[in-house]
Amino acid sequence: MKILVTGGAGFIGANFVHTTVEDMPDADIVVLDKLTYAGNPASLAGLERVTLIEGDIADPDTVDPLVKDADLVVHFAAESHNDNSLNDPSPFITTNIIGTFVLLEAVRKYGVRFHHISTDEVYGDLELDDPAKFTPTTPYHPSSPYSASKAGSDHLVRAWVRSFGVAATLSNCSNNYGPYQHIEKFIPRTVTNLIDGVKPRLYGAGLNVRDWIHVRDHNTAVWDIINKGEIGNTYLIGADGELNNLQVVQLILEEFGYDANDFVHVNDRPGHDLRYAIDNTSLLELGWEPEFKDFKAGLADTVAWYRDNEEWWRPQKEAVEAKYAKTGQ
Ligand code: NAD
Ligand code: TYD
Repeated sequence: MKILVTGGAGFIGANFVHTTVEDMPDADIVVLDKLTYAGNPASLAGLERVTLIEGDIADPDTVDPLVKDADLVVHFAAESHNDNSLNDPSPFITTNIIGTFVLLEAVRKYGVRFHHISTDEVYGDLELDDPAKFTPTTPYHPSSPYSASKAGSDHLVRAWVRSFGVAATLSNCSNNYGPYQHIEKFIPRTVTNLIDGVKPRLYGAGLNVRDWIHVRDHNTAVWDIINKGEIGNTYLIGADGELNNLQVVQLILEEFGYDANDFVHVNDRPGHDLRYAIDNTSLLELGWEPEFKDFKAGLADTVAWYRDNEEWWRPQKEAVEAKYAKTGQ
């Protein structure tokens, strides 16, 4: 089986490539990745049966021959960070919308199976006391340029299924954590700050809730959807991991053996979504179960990974913090 993985040098895509190489000895993987600031070839170092091609999903001449040669396309590539989308939305539109369009045209041309990776952020946010969670029929209500561009890409995929019979499935996942996550994101930023003896930064009061899932559980769900999902369907991926940001910071501080109040409040994110929460019923119906049911255990593994792999993240630390300093975060 030949699998084209877009964005496979990024956080979730690289983890997907690692576990697929381990679990599927008959799979050859081609990673198409633009190697933006978020893509790191070191995340794929030493893997057999993996070819990394540096290129842009928005370029039809690059995409066409790679899709022609594939049995399956798993589409992770995206501009993915909300804070960056507030500073400069432009690459979010090009990569997330035009890039997905280019891939869809290629899978349509060659009749290749397509799985589209998306986010729960397309649904906007929930009130803290709302008993409801996001379901596949929740209306789209994105808040940021990032989530709006992902919403646009989801609509394109569904239209290509309905209008052209493209064999695609979609998944919208909640917040991931685990190895190889870029240190601009909340958990790895906090962990690497603490390794450096710097206090964690909490946006606003820290009451915003995210529904955390370990990246390995996200990827086993993706394989279940590819293997057992219905074409045209959308599956929500989540593992009942709702926590507010203050709780997450305090669990990380505890893991390091520091005082629970050893953090600083910084400027809040404009338009900051309050709460995300996933109803994963349609995924459970496929027989999926998460491996990491205990967030503290998953967090301890993740902290250990960042301690053991300093050479992977260290080169980016100074620039990431300098960028946050400009917005008072
Ligand atoms: P990431 O930013 O770590 O990785 C994105 C990868 O895409 C990088 O390797 C980057 O170089 C590559 N890329 C960017 N633009 C490209 C282009 N034009 N052509 C080819 N490659 C390009 O992101 P991630 O956290 O791994 O997210 C992967 C996918 O999962 C995204 O679609 C994101 O929306 C979705 N998602 C992420 C989360 C999360 O918590 N991180 C949650 C739900 C869904
Ligand atoms: P982030 O990892 O950027 O993911 P997303 O915006 O996709 O949810 O942020 C997760 C949450 O953590 C979000 O509510 C913003 C908050 N946050 C902080 O409190 N401090 C930080 O240093 C960062 C980067 C994020």
